[in-house]
Amino acid sequence: MQLQLITWPEVETYLARSKGIIVPIGSTEQHGPMGLVGTDALCAEIVAGGIGDQIDALVAPTFSIGMAQHHLGFPGSMTFRPSTLIAVLRDAVTSLVGHGFRRIYFINGHGGNVATVQAAFAEIYAEYSLRGEAAPQGLRCKLANWFTYPNVMKLARDLYGDAEGSHATPSEISLTWYAYPETAQKRVLDPARAPDGHFTDAADYRATFPDGRMGADSSLANIEDGKRLFDTAVADGIADYKRFLEE
Ligand code: NI
Repeated sequence: MQLQLITWPEVETYLARSKGIIVPIGSTEQHGPMGLVGTDALCAEIVAGGIGDQIDALVAPTFSIGMAQHHLGFPGSMTFRPSTLIAVLRDAVTSLVGHGFRRIYFINGHGGNVATVQAAFAEIYAEYSLRGEAAPQGLRCKLANWFTYPNVMKLARDLYGDAEGSHATPSEISLTWYAYPETAQKRVLDPARAPDGHFTDAADYRATFPDGRMGADSSLANIEDGKRLFDTAVADGIADYKRFLEE
């Protein structure tokens, strides 16, 4: 159930039976020569939508722009600086809390968001702590990366081994191709498996990873794997979300 597609009285009815909401967050950034610029946002949205549909949970609008400063050397990439993203998330979560939501479950599609989203949670809690008040009863925020759900990691390892890499991975590209098959385009990549390593700013990233991939062989992506990854991520996500609601 998508928040954007229901009315406010329906939100009120939902709140009477659940205080939980799923919030997809990703990024708009290059994903190598084969991956869509929206890969991280799309993956989070696809998995969140699958969970929401299966267990009738509310899904918030996707945060499609994340912290991706290191990808700005490639056309199409967009970023919030960390302080901007923290401010955006703080306002968004505070809005939801004001209506009575108490379990805010972020499904993330971008590793580069993790530190900033966790910092945003600390900002939200600090608001109450510094005033010497308790947070509204039971308020908890959680960040779950769809790509680190245990059975997703196992499946990706079984399918791709080391060629999964860490950016423009065959698993994330497969998932987007499953949801948007019209965007699937096979390419021959040279080298097949991209270099691994570290980076600082956007210029350093582009120099170190010239086609944008990190450690991944994106050419292994395919729609059939995307379907398996989707089913696995949704199953893991439902289990994790239900545990979170009961904390
Ligand atoms: Ni990605």
